[in-house]
Amino acid sequence: MDNLIQNYKTVNEAEVKNWFHAGKTSDFPEDGGGCVKYGMKQIAVFNFSRRSKWYACQNLCPHKLEMVLSRGMIGDAKGTPKVACPLHKKTFSLEDGSNLNGDEFKIAVYPVKIEEENVYIGFSD
Ligand code: FES
Repeated sequence: MDNLIQNYKTVNEAEVKNWFHAGKTSDFPEDGGGCVKYGMKQIAVFNFSRRSKWYACQNLCPHKLEMVLSRGMIGDAKGTPKVACPLHKKTFSLEDGSNLNGDEFKIAVYPVKIEEENVYIGFSD
């Protein structure tokens, strides 16, 4: 179980070694999410069109270790973009992965760049 969590580590833009092509922008619904695989990892990608921004994070919810965050509801918590797990509504910042309910769970987040309608996620491995 712990191994599942250890698979995921937040990547800052400066640490990116590989920009992984996750698909076309049209593959991801507006103000919604999709899931892509990168090796053993499942990554949730969000097209947050209300903010004109894209975000990526682990698809694994750290609460009960379910692969569900790409189906979560995105929204805004006092200016911070967030995703709420569809199962028990734990809520995470899409900027730094912190848990906005005050629990200790945290998620890994990844940089996203868009080039000519292609979506790339930055990984350090
Ligand atoms: S599994 Fe995500 S909040 Fe419980």
